[in-house]
Amino acid sequence: MIKIALMNQKGGTGKTTSVINISGELIRHGKKVLIIDMDTQGNATSNLEIIQEADKNMTDAVIDTNVTLNDVICHTVIDGLDIIQGGTLLGGAFVALQKMMMGRETVLKRLLTKLPETAYDFILFDCSPSLESILNINVLVAVDYVLIPIRVDKNSIEGYGTMLETIREAREMVNPSLQALGIFMTAVETGSSLDREMINEFPNMLPDLAFQTYIRRNIEVRKAPLALKPLCFYNPRCTGSQDYSNLTNEILDRLKAEGIK
Ligand SMILES: Nc1ncnc2c1ncn2[C@@H]1O[C@H](COP(=O)(O)OP(=O)(O)O)[C@@H](O)[C@H]1O
Ligand SMILES: [Mg+2]
Repeated sequence: MIKIALMNQKGGTGKTTSVINISGELIRHGKKVLIIDMDTQGNATSNLEIIQEADKNMTDAVIDTNVTLNDVICHTVIDGLDIIQGGTLLGGAFVALQKMMMGRETVLKRLLTKLPETAYDFILFDCSPSLESILNINVLVAVDYVLIPIRVDKNSIEGYGTMLETIREAREMVNPSLQALGIFMTAVETGSSLDREMINEFPNMLPDLAFQTYIRRNIEVRKAPLALKPLCFYNPRCTGSQDYSNLTNEILDRLKAEGIK
């Protein structure tokens, strides 16, 4: 069970979009995937069709030690893709975590250890933009890898620097095995000279971290959430699907190189 967070302290960099679409690609590879929506905005939750809702939610799991993650998992319309809902259902968890005297940073990790290792091949975490939020700290304690989506603009350089620094800090303080899995560009406009410059230069700037694949701006990417599906199940032929397919292959290759199946 490989646990990957999509994180960037900036909003609108494609975290939610990528969580859903990489999950879709992993399903196409025959993997079992759980999305945990750790954003109180709940966009991942509202962009997927849930066919079987759980009676309990993440707030119940955080507050009540008798509630396990198994009790809060919902099935989506996509076979093999499950989700733990975020959004307003997370509000209580946020408050409860903040009030905890002890162990508030490790609650999610402790909940995850009770999930059987074989329940899923991958768990992808959709995160809110604020790094210092107790929800995101719980994610950084619990995951194996962080994937960083960035948008090409004048701030994107600072954006991933802060993220890498946060991962380093988390590794030193709370999660020694935490690693950055890589950085990829989203909503790239191949017609823009700034974007083309970034596409060419970025892989040289961070050779170990930058993915070769970048996700092009594509209107289909915006339509798939309205159909409540990952892109590859909505329009498998569009450029967005091609890009997310290539990115997922690159992610799987990277994990294989690390000795993970
Ligand atoms: N490749 C893309 N092409 C077109 N629109 C995109 C693409 N990637 C993301 N978007 C749009 O950009 C906006 C922000 O993306 P989102 O995934 O919600 O970012 P975040 O979760 O980081 O805040 C959304 O409206 C989304 O539909
Ligand atoms: Mg989001």
